[in-house]
Amino acid sequence: MLRDLPLRPTARSHKANRLRLERIRKLSLFRHRGRLSSEGNSPLFRGKSIQLHKSFGFLLLGLIILRIAWRLGNSAPALPDSVGTLERRTAPLAHLALYAFQLALPLSGWALVSVSMLDIPSMPFNLFVMPDLPFAQSDAAESFWTAAHWYLAYAGIALVALHVAAALRHHFQLGDAVLTRMITPSSGREGE
Ligand code: HEM
Ligand code: HEM
Repeated sequence: MLRDLPLRPTARSHKANRLRLERIRKLSLFRHRGRLSSEGNSPLFRGKSIQLHKSFGFLLLGLIILRIAWRLGNSAPALPDSVGTLERRTAPLAHLALYAFQLALPLSGWALVSVSMLDIPSMPFNLFVMPDLPFAQSDAAESFWTAAHWYLAYAGIALVALHVAAALRHHFQLGDAVLTRMITPSSGREGE
């Protein structure tokens, strides 16, 4: 794999970090043909897919910053009366968590490549070199941010799944306008 580091630990903690990293990477989506070593992967394929991954990650980071800036100046329409008290209280928290996830995930990816001892530059869509975040480079830091990125990604996927399930429940089971007013924004504002 592209991000394989030389397997020559100089200290016990170094080895522990590497083992932790490898444990996370065993579940890697970037694995190819079920093997973890760079011999089993095509390093070029992995390198290209990670660069593409970083490019879209940076693009999403830019978009979510714009979205959050827009949202700070614009409030969402009030929820329809059919939404119960519990959901009225929890939905904003879930939405806040979705925003936090969308910001924290690409930032943790950026942090992970910034602290990596591999020093591989990030080049969004081959247009320019994105500077690294000003964090000290070390294997331990890379291990930490890789784990953070990985857990954030999968926790976020679970959150999005829950969110989509809630939206579909409103539409098909409760039959209210929570979903349709999102697709046609004017329908939500009419009831305000
Ligand atoms: C919203 C944007 C992003 C999403 C949804 C996302 C998602 C993920 C996921 C799910 C993985 C783990 C794949 C696996 O091994 O199972 C991963 C790995 C990775 N991500 Fe991201 N990511 C995002 C943004 C970024 C950014 C902006 C960067 C860097 C600038 C980045 C760099 C990486 C790297 C280098 C890995 C491989 C870690 C390793 O195995 O060494 N990601 N990402
Ligand atoms: C099939 C996919 C999805 C459906 C059907 C869906 C549906 C909805 C609905 C019905 C709302 C409420 C809108 C309102 O209050 O009028 C909403 C809000 C929201 N959704 Fe989704 N959603 C989907 C995917 C996603 C994804 C992938 C994310 C983020 C990763 C996301 C993040 C949010 C956020 C942050 C809000 C709160 C908006 C605000 O009040 O500022 N949604 N979504």
